[in-house]
Amino acid sequence: MEMTHRPVISSTGVFTPVDVITNEELVASFNAYVERFNTEHAAEIAAGEVEQLQPSSVEFIEKASGIKARHVIAKQPVLDPAIMAPRWGERSNDELSIMAEIGVKAARQALERAGRDPADVDAVLCAASNMQRAYPAMAIEIQNALGIDGFGFDMNVACSSATFGIQTAADYIRAGNAKSVLVVSPEITSGHLNWRDRDSHFIFGDVATAVLVEDAAIAPAEHWDILGTKLKTVFSNNIRNNFGFLNRAHPETAGTADKLFVQEGRKVFKEVVPMVAQMIVDEAGRLGIDPQSLRRLWLHQANAGMNRLISHRVLGHEANEDESPIVLDTYANTSSAGSIIAFHQHSEDLAPGDTGLICSFGAGYSAGTVFVRKTA
Ligand code: COA
Repeated sequence: MEMTHRPVISSTGVFTPVDVITNEELVASFNAYVERFNTEHAAEIAAGEVEQLQPSSVEFIEKASGIKARHVIAKQPVLDPAIMAPRWGERSNDELSIMAEIGVKAARQALERAGRDPADVDAVLCAASNMQRAYPAMAIEIQNALGIDGFGFDMNVACSSATFGIQTAADYIRAGNAKSVLVVSPEITSGHLNWRDRDSHFIFGDVATAVLVEDAAIAPAEHWDILGTKLKTVFSNNIRNNFGFLNRAHPETAGTADKLFVQEGRKVFKEVVPMVAQMIVDEAGRLGIDPQSLRRLWLHQANAGMNRLISHRVLGHEANEDESPIVLDTYANTSSAGSIIAFHQHSEDLAPGDTGLICSFGAGYSAGTVFVRKTA
């Protein structure tokens, strides 16, 4: 008899850094930097050689994005107008690296919530927008710290890393190659954000999430059936980060702003909303799910306006907070972790049989959908 393996989500975990930066604090620091820059360059600005920097504003940030605050691992250096970047002590190879450390915290929570012994996990995928080093893989360090006997590897699909990780994990389950897979997304986005760029300095925050994807045969009684997963990528330069190991081949441009996150926010907004809304509706159709019957959408958390438009197109009406919860107001954009935080924080109240959607989208472009149903 052929065995069928059904992938489910057994549990999730979230690690949230303690430090918070409010928009008020962020803008005060940014504007102090702007004032300093303009004073230092007064002569060049007067001569028309250097462009005067413009101040940021709390009102703009909140209106344009819906973001009110963000968590970061290192608040003080990010807010110091002379630094405006994260800083922490360099760790020796014998210490757990910082990305692995927060990933392990989220992973432990997911394992505890599922009552899963790490010895029974088969694989760890570290799925995130940035890896802090080339190798060994972050996933293998996390695997080792958790005491998991199996395999691990890193994968990066920018903001869609977590949903791509979930499908990859689900495929291992479906194929019978694993029974229990941890998808860990430590997103230290404060490291790739250009805190001196007025257009985007407010966008990101730090967090780590973990999703335990398992074979239904071993999952805890309360879990989420994965009804279907779908991935899509379409090349675009509208969100880009040129940082990489070949930068040293061009030392003259190695420190320029394109080695951090840059985007054409307006274009991203306009191009990604229809692409994702269509993808969700198409995939729901393929799975025989009426999109308007979806109980909740856990969408990628980049911009409240994008989520409003996407959920409206999917549900056929303006979604309320209960139907499409927002966490970006307090977390900002946490890259691939955003939809997982929303799911983690806003799923316990759903009833058995309720169907919902975890959906991510971002650089690549990339988008991923994971339709889930709470077990009856
Ligand atoms: N403070 C005050 N004003 C600002 C500002 C700031 N920090 N940043 C930009 N502005 C000004 C601009 O100068 C511009 O002024 P103008 O109209 O006089 O030229 C105006 O505000 C609008 O700027 P724009 O950059 O077009 O803003 P926007 O409405 O597109 O909002 C984003 C910017 C980034 C919030 C928005 O485009 C967005 O979220 N896009 C989607 C991004 C996304 O999902 N990316 C995925 C990342 S993973």
